[in-house]
Amino acid sequence: MSIIDLMFQETDPDKIRQEAEANYKEYVNPFALRMLKNASLDIIEDKREGASVWDISGKKYIDCVTGAGIFNVGRRNPEVVEVLKKALDKYDMGSWISLFRERGLLAKKLAQITPGDLKFSLFCCGGGEAIEVAIKLARAHTDRTEILCMENGYHGVTGFALPATGRDVYKTPFLPLVPGYRHIPFNTLQAAEAAVNENTAAILLEPIQGEGGIIPADDDYLRGLRRLCDEKNILLIFDEVQTGFGRTGKMFAAEHSGVAPDIMVLAKSLSGGLYPLSCAVFTEEISDFLTAHPFIIINSFGGTSLACLVALAAIEFIEKNNLPRNAAERGAQFKTGLQALQQKYPELIIDIRGKGLMLGVEFPEESIGPRMAYQLKKNGVISIYTFNNPRIIRIMPSLVITKEEVQTVLEAFDHSLAEIRNQEARFKR
Ligand SMILES: Cc1ncc(COP(=O)(O)O)c(C=O)c1O
Repeated sequence: MSIIDLMFQETDPDKIRQEAEANYKEYVNPFALRMLKNASLDIIEDKREGASVWDISGKKYIDCVTGAGIFNVGRRNPEVVEVLKKALDKYDMGSWISLFRERGLLAKKLAQITPGDLKFSLFCCGGGEAIEVAIKLARAHTDRTEILCMENGYHGVTGFALPATGRDVYKTPFLPLVPGYRHIPFNTLQAAEAAVNENTAAILLEPIQGEGGIIPADDDYLRGLRRLCDEKNILLIFDEVQTGFGRTGKMFAAEHSGVAPDIMVLAKSLSGGLYPLSCAVFTEEISDFLTAHPFIIINSFGGTSLACLVALAAIEFIEKNNLPRNAAERGAQFKTGLQALQQKYPELIIDIRGKGLMLGVEFPEESIGPRMAYQLKKNGVISIYTFNNPRIIRIMPSLVITKEEVQTVLEAFDHSLAEIRNQEARFKR
């Protein structure tokens, strides 16, 4: 039997798991397998639908990870799947060096829905690549080199993006990195004011730090950064890779503060969860450099026919179903429920924060994050602690999640916290 036939025909969950684990151990990465197991993320996904996934044994989970914000429109959104199927009947990816009708349509749509004067789009595949585009454009446009970025920020691990990521563990083995990046404390305007100089090209930040522990930037801070950038002719870059497309209760997190960046980086949910796509959207003024050098930042797989059609379908679905509003309402429901749980388990929950359906629950010590993920998995919820801070479990479900499903997740939290409380009592004995 061919490998593909075997893949689709084998239904014995034990056999499937044995095979997958053996291949990971032998050919992928044995330590990655161990880490996935330790983080309770060794689920082998089978069916995927709406806010849920089913593993190969048929157990259903509500997905509160969604790849850190990839599946805003839900897992295998039927309307987006339909568009991809239709596209596949006619197209392939398209040759990157030709004129794409669908790329133009998507760029126009992004210009319409992104804040302020953002207008032109340059497409890539991953978030890190689009961050690279933003940084290159900032340097080329300003003719300055320094990029101010945030302690504990996360912007990916590719060449020009890695130095912007604010955690040494990702960087140290690969020194020397691209120079010219400086990290400053997040949410402190004085730090930014003190750090800018005549060589500052841009300030780069996430409107809500995701991997840093779900930490929202204050609206006044963002307004202050905008003022500072305008005064000094510095570009403001928002990384909306996790926060974009309705996640925070608005189409883009920038809208909460009313601050429009000069460059916005989008990825994850731009893909509709079906076809990789990312982009940097920037103002006409910044586009001058690329107008003169149109093929200096290129990407064979960025902005293909299939990707752009999927992205257009995903955006249409988000708008038609007002997913930002659902994110705001379901997020408020989560916050109320979690606050009640904080009252019930005050020794276990020390903070609940975030916007819309980008929420973080903070525990008093690092071991509780992974233990909660384990308990939540037993109770039918997939969750993960944030990469830069394991004391924080994130709640980032699909934006199609229903009121009833939120209630189910809250009940799973209640049962899991009760178990952790029992464990803590046993440890103390
Ligand atoms: C805020 C943010 N920026 C950039 C990236 C990098 O995206 P990618 O992994 O697609 O390169 C990520 C990935 O999680 C992210 O969360």
